Amino acid sequence: MFKRMPGDEPHRIVSTTPDTAVVFKPAVVRTPAIIALVIFAARFVAGLVRLIWRHPVALAVIAVPGALCFVYGWRVALLLVAPALAGLGAWAVLDRPTFTRWVGWRVTAFVRWFWIYRRHWQPVMTVSGLARHIRGREYVPRLVKVTSDSWADRVTVRMLDGQAVKNWTDRIENLSHGFGSETCRVSVAKAGRLVLTFPRRDPLATPIPALPIPDIPTVGPIEIGKLEDGSPWLLRLHGTHVLVAGATGAGKGSIIWSAVRGLLPAMWAGLVEIWALDPKLMELSYGKALFGGRYAADPADCADLLDEAVSVMHKRAARFAGVQRSHAPTLDDPFILVVVDEVAFLTAYQSDKQLRQRISAALATLTTQGRAVGVGVLAALQDPRKEVMNIRNLFPDKIALRLDESEQVDMVLGDGARDRGALADLISPRPERGAGVGYVRLETSPDPIRVRAAYVSDEDIRAMVGEVR
Ligand SMILES: Nc1ncnc2c1ncn2[C@@H]1O[C@H](COP(=O)(O)OP(=O)(O)OP(=O)(O)O)[C@@H](O)[C@H]1O
Ligand SMILES: [Mg+2]
Repeated sequence: MFKRMPGDEPHRIVSTTPDTAVVFKPAVVRTPAIIALVIFAARFVAGLVRLIWRHPVALAVIAVPGALCFVYGWRVALLLVAPALAGLGAWAVLDRPTFTRWVGWRVTAFVRWFWIYRRHWQPVMTVSGLARHIRGREYVPRLVKVTSDSWADRVTVRMLDGQAVKNWTDRIENLSHGFGSETCRVSVAKAGRLVLTFPRRDPLATPIPALPIPDIPTVGPIEIGKLEDGSPWLLRLHGTHVLVAGATGAGKGSIIWSAVRGLLPAMWAGLVEIWALDPKLMELSYGKALFGGRYAADPADCADLLDEAVSVMHKRAARFAGVQRSHAPTLDDPFILVVVDEVAFLTAYQSDKQLRQRISAALATLTTQGRAVGVGVLAALQDPRKEVMNIRNLFPDKIALRLDESEQVDMVLGDGARDRGALADLISPRPERGAGVGYVRLETSPDPIRVRAAYVSDEDIRAMVGEVR
């Protein structure tokens, strides 16, 4: 575009306005107006087709009355639209779930696409640094579509070529504030496409009362609370080991007690035994009667109980070898759940070295070999650092409740969990807002999900104990 001049050429340039810099302008290629118009028209039609394709129901709801009004006048339009409105109203009243699915959320998605995301897209992208300005042209990530449900809006985005997911996860705050949501979750839909989740309401804002005790005995995933979208939070205990990490007052007790509560019918049926280790004496002692004598608080007793669990595990393994590869709970071989509150008291903070080593070895043995023979460990601790819990990686499932430092989130949930939205260090320390609230990674998705455990109060525990007696 810029022509390089030979060495002596600039001297020959004559300017009629002395003392002004000589400006070289790139050549301008004149485009016939018809070509520009055709390009604009093609873009407009493509956009319109995309819009109709993405939001047919919402557009019909808006466009049909408008068109009738235009063609026949508002009186006729009202007359024609009124029965349709009455029909929709009846549908909404009689069968709300199908109405919201087919009409309600689609119209909501359209309105939010138009009013929130489309309107703010360019400024938010530019200010947050996700749009790029290269050689006078602005490249903005494409807003592909918006879907809504009762909990959140999900915005599908086409990233700019060369952008990384991290570019987006680093700007969660810009995005959430820019689009008027409290948080934003980033997940990958496919190569080059992301889904941004913007919650509109928070079903976990208030404490969840203790859930009803299940009617049928089950060791399957136990309902212990709610997921962020309001659906039940099912915790798998049989066939895995679970580590719960949370600062003091984070609500570790509510996870332990909700799990015990869910397992009660199976305990009554003899299909589950809970062995409780309570070195702090403050959590599980309350329900001592539930555990049928398998309760220890003193570190030496805890070590004995763990050794006993290991010996049961070994005996089962010897019996199962070559006969069965996985465990199904029976009266003879019930599922044994070893619940350890404040596990660091028995490992890192235990002053008796011999005892400490015995307990650590037993826990490591149970977590490496217990799964297939029906022995599981549910452990809670405050500090997830390796120095405190060197076997934390032996727990396949981990729950991060409120944590003190942001670095601890990745220690519990794995690398990149905090970047993907597990903001466990920002959970409110006020019990009514944040106790029992945490993040988990479900098997189905690498993205962390926000959860809240139901609160099992002292009265609930007393009632549970009362039912056993
Ligand atoms: N799921 C919950 N919902 C609402 N409030 C809760 C919940 N769980 C606990 N709380 C409240 O938070 C307080 C602390 O809970 P909890 O004792 O379970 O914490 P913790 O994590 O075990 O703490 P620590 O490590 O000190 O034992 C409880 O007394 C209760 O008032
Ligand atoms: Mg506790």
